[in-house]
Amino acid sequence: MTIKAVRKAIFPVAGLGTRFLPATKAMPKEMLTVVDKPLIQYAVEEALEAGIEQIIFVTGRNKTAIEDHFDIAYELEDTLRVRGKSLAAIEGIRMQPGSPVYIRQQEPLGLGHAVWCAREVVGDEPFAVILPDELMVGGFMRQMVEAYTSVGGNFIGALEVSPEETGKYGIISPGADDGRLVEVKALVEKPKGTAPSNLMIPGRYILQPEVMQILDAHETGAGGEIQLTDAMAQLIGRQPFHGFRFEGERYDCGDKAGYIQANLALALGREDVGPQVRRFAETLLHGTFD
Ligand code: UTP
Repeated sequence: MTIKAVRKAIFPVAGLGTRFLPATKAMPKEMLTVVDKPLIQYAVEEALEAGIEQIIFVTGRNKTAIEDHFDIAYELEDTLRVRGKSLAAIEGIRMQPGSPVYIRQQEPLGLGHAVWCAREVVGDEPFAVILPDELMVGGFMRQMVEAYTSVGGNFIGALEVSPEETGKYGIISPGADDGRLVEVKALVEKPKGTAPSNLMIPGRYILQPEVMQILDAHETGAGGEIQLTDAMAQLIGRQPFHGFRFEGERYDCGDKAGYIQANLALALGREDVGPQVRRFAETLLHGTFD
């Protein structure tokens, strides 16, 4: 069996971000910043680092800030140049001309539907899916592409959560487990009652194109949405499915507490703001100045 390279990545960014209102009333959730960089930029950088060549954004209304973010900001650049200021902060994000693709999901009918909207651009190739509201530090996609390259098939992230949290996520029913790769025997989206494990699927996937044919049926699942998990579940048994444990840190930035944790953790690790933030946090927690 030939293992085709993963060249394309879908970024579904058409959700309404209701958990972050009012911040997301007029601004995309994916433009929320962790320290000084929007979530979507962390996600795109993760994909490019993994060797992904084409970035496919599935966007909705109110999301034009994302397109602008990856475009040239001519006036800003010109002003910085005239003032003799560095352009370093905005230079790293420019993609190859013609490379990013923007597709509109007219209605937010669910993650499965958002992925399906990219079917024509994906064509007959394996593709990655990256949910930018999950911030991964340590190169999740690079690690997953490396593992995929030797065995092929479908890959989904596998991350342990506490048993109380399983009802919020897509959950893996596991089989053979070598510590890094875990066989996926079944998947269930937001299980009610007892979950088959506490292994949730964080927002990183490498999928074979056949999943698009299943999504063609537009079947709805949990929450009345067209769920990617349900479509993947139908492929199990027909194609290999591997859960992949990543070595690094994950922050659920779709959730307020997770977002604040990401800001704190990344700020503490930075040379420019880290020492000041650390002193402030210690003062705040212990009520003393050093
Ligand atoms: P979420 O479940 O986090 O939904 O979607 P959301 O709308 O972004 O946020 P809340 O729950 O209302 O606060 C997971 C990912 O799938 C995308 C979202 O943009 C997010 O990246 N998504 C979801 C779509 O692109 N389209 C959809 O119809 C649903």
